[in-house]
Amino acid sequence: MDSTGTIWMPSGHSTIAGDVDSLFYFIFYVSLFLFLLVIGLSAFFVIKYRRKGEPGKTTSFSHNTKLEIIWTVIPTILVLIVFVWGFRTYLKMNVVPKDALEIKVTGQKWFWSFDYAEGANTVNELVVPVDKPVKLLMSSKDVIHSFFVPNFRIKMDVLPNRYSVTWFEATDVGEYNLFCTEFCGKGHSEMIGKVRVVTDKEFKEWLEAGSGAGEGMSLEEFGAKLYVSKACATCHSINGAVGTGPSFKNKYGIQEDLRGGSTVLFDENYIRESILNPNAKVVAGFAPVMPTYQGILKERQIDALIAFIKSLQEKENMR
Ligand code: CUA
Repeated sequence: MDSTGTIWMPSGHSTIAGDVDSLFYFIFYVSLFLFLLVIGLSAFFVIKYRRKGEPGKTTSFSHNTKLEIIWTVIPTILVLIVFVWGFRTYLKMNVVPKDALEIKVTGQKWFWSFDYAEGANTVNELVVPVDKPVKLLMSSKDVIHSFFVPNFRIKMDVLPNRYSVTWFEATDVGEYNLFCTEFCGKGHSEMIGKVRVVTDKEFKEWLEAGSGAGEGMSLEEFGAKLYVSKACATCHSINGAVGTGPSFKNKYGIQEDLRGGSTVLFDENYIRESILNPNAKVVAGFAPVMPTYQGILKERQIDALIAFIKSLQEKENMR
């Protein structure tokens, strides 16, 4: 597979990419040829048969059987080629190989989460082994999203209340962009992630290291990693900047104003509640748009995030 890409397509890194690209270029160049032919002949005839003298001097004829057969038969053949070719590629893209590794994909405003059968889960980072078919079983917690990995040539809607399926087999180790390609609200453009393709060995090690329990890391360090990897950073800054949600800077220990006029002490319990049931107590000036992390974060991960948020406060005090 080419690794550079062209002006028309990014580089292809899945088993289906070659089929998609060759069909795309076939349609593209045939269209280009026909476009130039039609425009070229039109321009030529406009000049050649422009009005030059008395009206009614040019011959008039109503049809040309030979020409009409040619311009009916050739396009019909072209369209049939595209149909058969496209249908075969469509089948290949939609029939999931039996030995595929299944991963559950959940889209929600505004991040992706991935659940592995072995218990691992990640946010905005899909880790897969190279040269192995991967089946994605996808659903949404809220509105319609769309799972799009340009380098793999796959794009599939992710719907609430229904499962959709797509699959791919990555051919090269590397990191590839993942986009949401269905406008899903304010944070749509931030709903981006990575597909990390690793060797089979690395993948097994990654699965075993698991699920991100953060072994060998302090709660604070682990929390700092989770703050990025679980996409908290999409909405909550740590430098005081106001985003979709309030910044975490200098928050711990204060009395926070809430929507509706009451206040709450910003402590461990409030952080925990806001992670699991985000819309119970929303900070004044912000919309109740945070998704729940119920079932996504494990206990140690919640503890780690709390420790991280606390650490932001302590550092401020030390200055
Ligand atoms: Cu999700 Cu756009």
